[in-house]
Amino acid sequence: EQIREFRARLLAWFDIHKRDLPWRRTRDPYAIWVSEIMLQQTRVAAVLDHYTRWMARFPTLEALAAAAEDEVLAAWSGLGYYRRARFLHQAVKVVAAEHHGNVPRTAAELRKLPGIGAYTSAAIASIAFGEPAAVVDGNVERVLLRQIGGGEPGSDFNAAKGARKGEVVLRSDDIQNLATELLEPARAGDYNQAMMELGATVCLPRNPMCLQCPVQGPCRTRGEHPTTARKPPISV
Ligand code: ADE
Repeated sequence: EQIREFRARLLAWFDIHKRDLPWRRTRDPYAIWVSEIMLQQTRVAAVLDHYTRWMARFPTLEALAAAAEDEVLAAWSGLGYYRRARFLHQAVKVVAAEHHGNVPRTAAELRKLPGIGAYTSAAIASIAFGEPAAVVDGNVERVLLRQIGGGEPGSDFNAAKGARKGEVVLRSDDIQNLATELLEPARAGDYNQAMMELGATVCLPRNPMCLQCPVQGPCRTRGEHPTTARKPPISV
């Protein structure tokens, strides 16, 4: 019940507040793939221009697969981490050659391609194909950890881990399991993007804007943040 409420509030917030981004206006799996690779270590603001130019230069998977590596790297210039561009280029060649140009539809298949790990495979599979695969990046992990911080006795997900009263039990892959448990399977792509967006715009590392958070209700960390993260007062 608590989980249903969490999903509903998060998605209602996302429906209203989601940023209008070019890769949210397409259903083309190749375009979504490009965006997720660019977004791996780079902020949305820095990706926007590059993404638009890239899609004009290589509008289809086939166009990218047929391009020479130096052209591909030139188009990537400014984004950094050029390994991402090389892997993307290699991966689309594999898809063109071995999958008739059709992007694999499951996270498990996507992960076999160069440069696609747990995070990117879940992002592409959920956003492009609706697979209920939970994305966990740094932002999502922070949102999840804050939600359960303190461990409300008897709360659905904490109790499911066998925690005793007031105790938070978190093993390393518990985060992935928790993410999977909370995921809205009927709107997996939107849910994942909503979690990323919440972490990027509201549930900020240093100064989270808890009053604007759609899931402040169940949050066990609401209103608290480490005093060490606060800037010292300005002395005059
Ligand atoms: N970061 C990585 N992928 C994203 C997406 N699809 N939406 C928002 N932030 C992201």
